[in-house]
Amino acid sequence: MVSPNIYLGLMSGTSIDSIDVAAVEFNKDIPRVLGSHSHSIPEKLRQQILNLSLPGNDNIQLYCETDNQLGELFSEAALTLIDSLNILPNQIAAIGSHGQTIRHLPPSSCTSTEKAGYSLQISDPNIIAARTGCTVVADFRRADMALGGHGAPLVPAFHQKLFSHSEKNRVIVNIGGIANITVLAANGDCSGYDTGPGNILMDSWCQRQLGTAYDNNGDWGDGGTANNPLLNQLKSHSFFAQPAPKSTGREAFNLRWLEQQLVDCDLSAQDIQATLIQLTAETIADQINNLDLPISEVFVCGGGMLNGALMQRLAEAMPESTVSSTSELGLNPNWVEACAFAWLAKQRLEGKTGNLPSVTGASKEAILGGIYLA
Ligand SMILES: Nc1ncnc2c1ncn2[C@@H]1O[C@H](COP(=O)(O)OP(=O)(O)O)[C@@H](O)[C@H]1O
Ligand SMILES: [Mg+2]
Repeated sequence: MVSPNIYLGLMSGTSIDSIDVAAVEFNKDIPRVLGSHSHSIPEKLRQQILNLSLPGNDNIQLYCETDNQLGELFSEAALTLIDSLNILPNQIAAIGSHGQTIRHLPPSSCTSTEKAGYSLQISDPNIIAARTGCTVVADFRRADMALGGHGAPLVPAFHQKLFSHSEKNRVIVNIGGIANITVLAANGDCSGYDTGPGNILMDSWCQRQLGTAYDNNGDWGDGGTANNPLLNQLKSHSFFAQPAPKSTGREAFNLRWLEQQLVDCDLSAQDIQATLIQLTAETIADQINNLDLPISEVFVCGGGMLNGALMQRLAEAMPESTVSSTSELGLNPNWVEACAFAWLAKQRLEGKTGNLPSVTGASKEAILGGIYLA
């Protein structure tokens, strides 16, 4: 029998917008996307995840129920794609399931270095294995954290394999709920970290003010004017000045934090949205502009790529670099992260490492994830 060579990547990020699934065939490390699917998350389940994501709301009963429900929903997402592609479980080597993060508190970069961090992704992989009949790899972040790392971001190793260039210094920017960068130096060095909010604050403000999931193409915010005093106030959040390695999540950047920042603010809701677009663009660009390395090319992936106003602000803030989509490099920006988790599952099955200590701060490279057999 020919050994299975298709991997599925299952991803739901901090935006909690949908479960993304990609089926990928690898030629060595080069992915060929056979198909993809975006599976919606019912509003009630989304609210449960949001409730579980804020420290202080801890509820073990809700955690267990949500873990099960997400296990079923991730399975449905995978099966929908498997059915549409007419592939059989025995053609699938493994499903790499990131799960849904409900807590991410990485090791503190302040003095108490003995304080270990933690990160929790739920969506029971046992259920996914049982429903799909496929081997599942899950729990990717904690092996890195056990070695003192942030467990995040984990996509840079995949970006490095796929997108590095021997003559050009490149940066890959993934704009999900949180944004992260991967710096790919022409000499082979790779670094990367979270830069702060990607879409998360823009989405939260839009949901609050307009009742829509996001600001389509950034059009609403684009009609407002960014306010410099508010922008500077938001940029004074301590995360932005922290040295790498660093990672962040909903715990630090959420609607509650934003509303605290707006207590004495009399700007219109639209000008606030314009300021939030600028915040995301500048906090990404500041990091890239301040690298020791001159960056000629920036490639963007993640849902933020679909926000035209954000992309324009980002390009304006980095006049020395060309800013374009990872589709220029052959991979649709919507599926890069799901493909990364398919690749990480492959790494796991092959007994290869998946983290980059230069990114996460772990003491060494590690084989990431646990294996759940069907
Ligand atoms: N047409 C669009 N216009 C503006 N923003 C968009 C559009 N489509 C998607 N997005 C943004 O992308 C986000 C989802 O991006 P994604 O990469 O899936 O993030 P995550 O990894 O956090 O789930 C949405 O929440 C939204 O903010
Ligand atoms: Mg998403």
